[in-house]
Amino acid sequence: MCGIVGYIGQQDSKEVLLTGLEKLEYRGYDSAGIALLNQDGVNLFKVKGRIAALKEEVDQDVHATMGIGHTRWATHGEPSVDNAHPHQSTSGRFTLVHNGVIENYQDLKREYLQDVTFKSETDTEVVVQLIEKFYQTNQDTLASFRQTMELLKGSYAIAMIDNEDSDTLYVSKNKSPLLVGLGNDFNVVASDAMATLKVTDQYLEIHDKEIVIVNRESVTIQKLDGTVLERSPYTAQIDASDIEKGTYPHFMLKEIDEQPIVMRKIIKEYQNDNNELKLDENIRTAMKAADRIYIIAAGTSYHAGLVGKEFIEKLAKIPVEVHVASEFSYNMPLLSEKPLFIFISQSGETADSRAVLVSIKEMGHPALTITNVPGSTLSREADYTLHLYAGPEIAVASTKAYTAQIAVLAILAVDTARAKGLELDFDPMQELAIVANAMDVLTAQKEEIEQLATDYLATSRNAFFIGRSADYNVALEGSLKLKEISYIQAEGFAGGELKHGTIALIEKGTPVIALATQENVNYSIRGNVQEVVARGANAMIVSMKGLEQDDDAFVLPKVHELLTPLASVVPLQLLAYYAALHRGCDVDKPRNLAKSVTVE
Ligand code: M6R
Repeated sequence: MCGIVGYIGQQDSKEVLLTGLEKLEYRGYDSAGIALLNQDGVNLFKVKGRIAALKEEVDQDVHATMGIGHTRWATHGEPSVDNAHPHQSTSGRFTLVHNGVIENYQDLKREYLQDVTFKSETDTEVVVQLIEKFYQTNQDTLASFRQTMELLKGSYAIAMIDNEDSDTLYVSKNKSPLLVGLGNDFNVVASDAMATLKVTDQYLEIHDKEIVIVNRESVTIQKLDGTVLERSPYTAQIDASDIEKGTYPHFMLKEIDEQPIVMRKIIKEYQNDNNELKLDENIRTAMKAADRIYIIAAGTSYHAGLVGKEFIEKLAKIPVEVHVASEFSYNMPLLSEKPLFIFISQSGETADSRAVLVSIKEMGHPALTITNVPGSTLSREADYTLHLYAGPEIAVASTKAYTAQIAVLAILAVDTARAKGLELDFDPMQELAIVANAMDVLTAQKEEIEQLATDYLATSRNAFFIGRSADYNVALEGSLKLKEISYIQAEGFAGGELKHGTIALIEKGTPVIALATQENVNYSIRGNVQEVVARGANAMIVSMKGLEQDDDAFVLPKVHELLTPLASVVPLQLLAYYAALHRGCDVDKPRNLAKSVTVE
């Protein structure tokens, strides 16, 4: 969701800014722009639409060794050139890009900016106009920038140019991600290290409510009160090749195919030389101490949480509640005496989850984050972190992060059970190795699944995914995958629940995808399939070796019953992929969606 890149150095900044913005495209956006500062002043280029269009718009004859760029995911005001960033103050002196939402922008406008004519509908323009307003009194850019940051409420990552000062980028953040990258004779600013990995792997974290003065040869971090802070850089642990598609047509397909590799990586990372589970002792202690676990997540990560609940309850015998992050803060359940919160988030930046983390930390409760990005906000602000080791996930539709989350939750549940002295007949590493082999088989069956996508989903307006027990959790994820990238209206239902209302929607040809991987509900889910077929549905069954019947459309290799979601989700991911592809959808960057959802 929105992306920022900034450059200050000796070279022409266009290349770094435009390449950086391309790397941030995966976050989701609907307009883009760059501002380049040179001897002629600020040169502004903005478009509604993709970076490809921005590249056409940018005047290649403009050279500037300093600039800022932005991809905007509309919140205040429609996607348009006027609302696209960068935004400028009335005189044109200050130019700024912003991610996040300024919650008090109307109040600030009323209190300080009654006489200003605004050019956009954004909350962002208020920030740049305020800086100019304060400058008129104090004639000091840094002081005006600081005064403005002190007044902002909400989330922001900001980079600003003063066109009278070609040696400084002014930067600040609160709740939204932003990093400074360090180079020789240049420095960069980015929402995400992926944007600027091509030029540096050395980064400085910026903490909330800090101000950073970025010059060509130096970076100064200050608290809001002006106190200077020392901070060491870290090396970004991302391989530049991980963020390239290589020979794949889409990141989503690449990431689906990477799932067996990720399973093996998780096995390696969570096991010591004696084949014992390797987890932070503090996490073990926190899990053992908890009388109830609250899993907080959104979207696909929420669906992984539903699977994790089953692991923790069945194996470690601790009650678990799974909550949608955006609801939890406003409708907090009665908490147990010794709760442990687990935040599941691929990006580690989801604002809805972070809001819960902030409130439960204020209440003094412990928190564990399970994330693919260890340096992310949710990771830094929780007490403990478990890493997914999935490598960067670029496609908006989450695939390998979902299966990695489930694998890590299985390991966590077993580790807790063992720490509690519970007897288990389940070796997670052995079973995950079997899953990895099954995933190899499944990802090699693309042609078969593509055919199923054609047979069942080519022309449909809607589709239903049904399952019982563990399969119901995967039905929810399968339907989310299909709807978000193919725009087919899809819903996941518990097989037994259909007859209580939803079956009214079944008509001739309605696709129903049923999962049958659980022995105890194999006959009942097949009964539900008969019910919809009797009403005209075009039903296909995805079953598992040992439970299959002659007419099943697809049979999964056998994996341990607890881990079936790791196998059954793969054909559903591929079904969604091919359905979207055949409909001509933008698979990796579906409309209206952002990869990292940094607004509440
Ligand atoms: O980064 P997170 O795991 O916290 O993101 C949560 C959701 O926004 C995310 O899973 C979303 O639902 C995916 N696009 C689904 O594929």
